[in-house]
Amino acid sequence: MSKNSNHLSGKEVRAIAKENKRVIKSLEAYKNRKADESEYLGHMSDQNNILEIDNLHTYFFTEQGVVKAVNGVSFNIPKNTTVGVVGESGCGKSVTSMSVMRLIQGPAGQIYSGSIRFNAKEKNGESKVYDIAKMPIRDIHKIRGNQISMIFQEPMTSLNPVFTIGQQLDEVSFIHDPNATKESAKAKSIEMLELVGIAMPERVYNAFPHELSGGMRQRVMISMALASNPRLIIADEPTTALDVTIQAQILDLLRDLKTKIDGSIMLITHDLGVIAEMADYVVVMYAGRVIERGPVKEIFHNPLHPYTIGLQKSKPTLDSDSDTLFNIPGNVPNPVNMPNYCYFRERCSQCTKKCSGDYPDMVEVTPNHFVACHLYGGEDK
Ligand SMILES: Nc1ncnc2c1ncn2[C@@H]1O[C@H](COP(=O)(O)OP(=O)(O)OP(=O)(O)O)[C@@H](O)[C@H]1O
Ligand code: SF4
Ligand SMILES: [Mg+2]
Repeated sequence: MSKNSNHLSGKEVRAIAKENKRVIKSLEAYKNRKADESEYLGHMSDQNNILEIDNLHTYFFTEQGVVKAVNGVSFNIPKNTTVGVVGESGCGKSVTSMSVMRLIQGPAGQIYSGSIRFNAKEKNGESKVYDIAKMPIRDIHKIRGNQISMIFQEPMTSLNPVFTIGQQLDEVSFIHDPNATKESAKAKSIEMLELVGIAMPERVYNAFPHELSGGMRQRVMISMALASNPRLIIADEPTTALDVTIQAQILDLLRDLKTKIDGSIMLITHDLGVIAEMADYVVVMYAGRVIERGPVKEIFHNPLHPYTIGLQKSKPTLDSDSDTLFNIPGNVPNPVNMPNYCYFRERCSQCTKKCSGDYPDMVEVTPNHFVACHLYGGEDK
């Protein structure tokens, strides 16, 4: 592709298609292989973490070329904490979470490389560390919807409209407990509905999804996510589709539940207000990479990366006439053709000579506060 155009010649299109086919074939074979568990068991680098994402690359092989949606992402989720993942639309938040759940749609979408280590607790109390990225897809039931569960933005698309809430909730018990009976499954479902603050659980149990309000459906989804006693809940924009009062109730509920289930939450949002209220740690993503991460207080009171500083400045306020959160001028580079230098350079008002060089390394500036920006690396620190 010429540098200044998005136009591809017929020859280039054929070359891309050929290369895509070759790479996808080998990644699909790896995903569909049968493997002994020992092939994907590993060790946590820190036993206090529930999840360690290490240099994850998740790509989409398109006719235009390879979209590096997640391009070397690393961060940890410690036990009993909420980690907020923030960044503007398209920066790779959902692709990161879908990679952890192994829900990336093949053949075009593939985890290309990296590790996703998960500290699992088996029913017999034994601890095991699974590298989710290396697990054959046939073995993923060991963790998905079981040790890790997910809450999506729009509950209506995740609930089946032709079954009652009770039937769908009971199903979770039947999947996870081979000894479950009709009665025990119903008792557990009612208990879960009560746990998420539903006052008339019998009525909701017998209702169809369309008979409930948006906030109620999201409560049901949360109860479903909890039914398997997960160690990690991934919530991808769980309140975006709800109005403000209901949003606050759902966030309160999630905060409460973290303590009740003794687990961790990965909370994806583009709303810095939600992050400030909910998260212990924050991960800031930009164009498929983590550009800053650290404890919530540090990120809010001492943001380091010019992008994080820009995000905070672009927060809507009562006197601003903008209602968009992300209004930093300029564009993200073309995802098919990422440069070797800092991806934020074209939008950065602080760039120096060094910024034309290699992509900046991640450096730890204060304990646990990391940033990838030349202003804080080497001699410039
Ligand atoms: N099926 C696909 N094919 C090609 N590219 C894709 C596909 N799915 C996602 N992408 C690309 O991956 C990148 C990351 O997308 P992702 O959905 O993770 O963004 P996000 O941070 O969750 O954004 P939002 O805040 O809008 O939900 C985007 O550039 C997107 O265009
Ligand atoms: S590395 Fe340079 S261009 Fe990139 S954010 Fe830092 S100062 Fe700006
Ligand atoms: Mg998303």
